[in-house]
Amino acid sequence: MSFDGAIKALSLDALKNVKDGYVLGLGSGRAATVLVKLLSKYIKTKKISVECVPTSMQIKLIAEKGGLQLIDAEQIDKIDLVFDGADQIDKNKFLIKGGGGALLKENILISAAKKVIIIADNSKFVKDFNRTVPIEIHPLARQIIWKKIEKIGGKPELRILDRGYPFFTENSNIILDCDFGIIKNPKALQQKLLNIAGVIEVGIFTRKPDIIYKAKANGKFEILT
Ligand code: A5P
Repeated sequence: MSFDGAIKALSLDALKNVKDGYVLGLGSGRAATVLVKLLSKYIKTKKISVECVPTSMQIKLIAEKGGLQLIDAEQIDKIDLVFDGADQIDKNKFLIKGGGGALLKENILISAAKKVIIIADNSKFVKDFNRTVPIEIHPLARQIIWKKIEKIGGKPELRILDRGYPFFTENSNIILDCDFGIIKNPKALQQKLLNIAGVIEVGIFTRKPDIIYKAKANGKFEILT
């Protein structure tokens, strides 16, 4: 068994939270992909119906392929449950998100959801955040924001695709992946960054998930509530 095996096993457990008539938020990335594929089978087997709001084109394509009923975020005013992955989870159960660039919609859905379930492998759990923070910014403000981030102690890097082109989000913005070293006070940093004009979204999420599934390399998983 592997991490993948564990993600499959825990997804089957996580899906027990889905109820008939739910509006579900579908996160993006590898873990969310495994869960969404199983969700398609789950609702058919259980003969229940749900509406799904995807957080990116990436997961929308997976959901479409699985025949899930999709709905746009602007058509709903409630989300019963969000399933998502994470790039890092700290001791406060805060999250770093945005590795795939879908942070804006992910944060909108996570902050509106009645229940949030996060799925991540062992390697993502840390005491204090120590990886880069994805920050979605308006392209016009690139240089201005760059300087401001340096002033508050960060080292920004423009997210670039393999062939050298800048990465554009689905909202036509760009991403600065910013190194702040070990982050001792994530909430304060999040607030400082959100205060910068031209910042669209910050990849530090402080809404604590209701359930976190931790996948282990031996194929087993842990549930943290
Ligand atoms: C998308 O922007 C991210 O927030 C993902 O949810 C995050 O990168 C986790 O993805 P994986 O499950 O692929 O590690």
